[in-house]
Amino acid sequence: MTLASYSAHSDDFPAARLRADFPILQRSVRGQPLAYLDNAATTQKPQAVIDAESAYYREINANIHRGVHWLSEQATAAHEGARERVRRFLNAREAAEIIFVRGTTEAINLVAQSYGRANLGPGDEVLITGLEHHSNIVPWQLTCAQTGAVLKVAHIDDRGVVCMDEFRRLLGARTRIVAVAHVSNALGTVNPVREMTELAHQAGAVVLLDGAQAIAHTPVDVQALGCDFYAFSGHKLYAPTGIGVLYGRRALLEAMPPWQGGGDMIRTVSFTGSTWNDLPHKFEAGTPHIAGAIGLGAAIDYVQRIGLAAIGAYEHELLAYGTALLGDIPGLRLIGTAPDKAGILSFVIDGLHAHDIGTVLDSHGVAIRAGHHCAMPVMERFGVPATARASLAFYNTHEDLDRLAQALRRAVEMFVR
Ligand code: ALA
Repeated sequence: MTLASYSAHSDDFPAARLRADFPILQRSVRGQPLAYLDNAATTQKPQAVIDAESAYYREINANIHRGVHWLSEQATAAHEGARERVRRFLNAREAAEIIFVRGTTEAINLVAQSYGRANLGPGDEVLITGLEHHSNIVPWQLTCAQTGAVLKVAHIDDRGVVCMDEFRRLLGARTRIVAVAHVSNALGTVNPVREMTELAHQAGAVVLLDGAQAIAHTPVDVQALGCDFYAFSGHKLYAPTGIGVLYGRRALLEAMPPWQGGGDMIRTVSFTGSTWNDLPHKFEAGTPHIAGAIGLGAAIDYVQRIGLAAIGAYEHELLAYGTALLGDIPGLRLIGTAPDKAGILSFVIDGLHAHDIGTVLDSHGVAIRAGHHCAMPVMERFGVPATARASLAFYNTHEDLDRLAQALRRAVEMFVR
């Protein structure tokens, strides 16, 4: 049976076997086996990714694109091979549409500063939603302050679902850019991004999708989505930190001015002016994170061997199991109950601060995140300062969730009753 065939049978998904690929999951924490449920913050790395990154340093470490020696050729080929893997993974038309950046945050800042500053003027509008991460809010606030454009927000309802009537109403003749999370990091809501993209295009706006929380959980096809830009971070996809991707449609990238200046992004430089390199290099000033890109390529190979559809189906089943378990914890309220959700369980418990929940869970070897999750407007919308958040990956098991629930019961017994 190939791994891809597990998609229809999430019960058969070999999570326990796949865990063995991740060295860190074999270790104990505070004297207990590690139940790692903080995957929305960052995912763990399989041996294949660790090996690919270290092999680069051990065997072919050299700078890329400009060396005439053998090592540099090897490093360049590995780096550009990773770009081609990303292209295939996203189904982009060409590798030139794949810009390597540090992560989602840098990708969005690039679009806001390059496309945004070139195309926004006083009174123009940027439309986002009420569930965005700070990294899809603040870059637009900065650009709006620089250009005189106005930031508009389509709010969310009590389940954490974007009000599509408001979204439609806010799309108008002045809307130039729509920037929307594919999946909310704080709530797990999956936005109807295809429909949102279509509506935005009808209004004449370009669309950026923040894919940070989607990329490891669902197949992403940028042509099928129809988006103009798609951003994601490698470290949420089992790849190293410090590497990420901005996909952009060639026509837009061609017309955009460079964002950062430096080596590699130029064709010619003189003291009277400079000209720009071809895509994608125009947006990649300076020596890039070569090892990180190679690690990202290895991570993509790894998840493709399992299959994103199989991963999504399994995580969905885990989410349903975890939702039912948490529903039985006295005083627990789930924050984010959208009908279409990815593997995120955000919650509060009456009488317990989220950070105390996190500390008690940690003492049981269960790693979650507690806080505002870089989504303060979401916290404000739900009237809470913070939530505790368990977030899933395909290497999580039902046992991880059982341990989460047991530790939560202990916390409630110790501190609330
Ligand atoms: N944005 C990451 C999270 O949601 C760090 O945890």
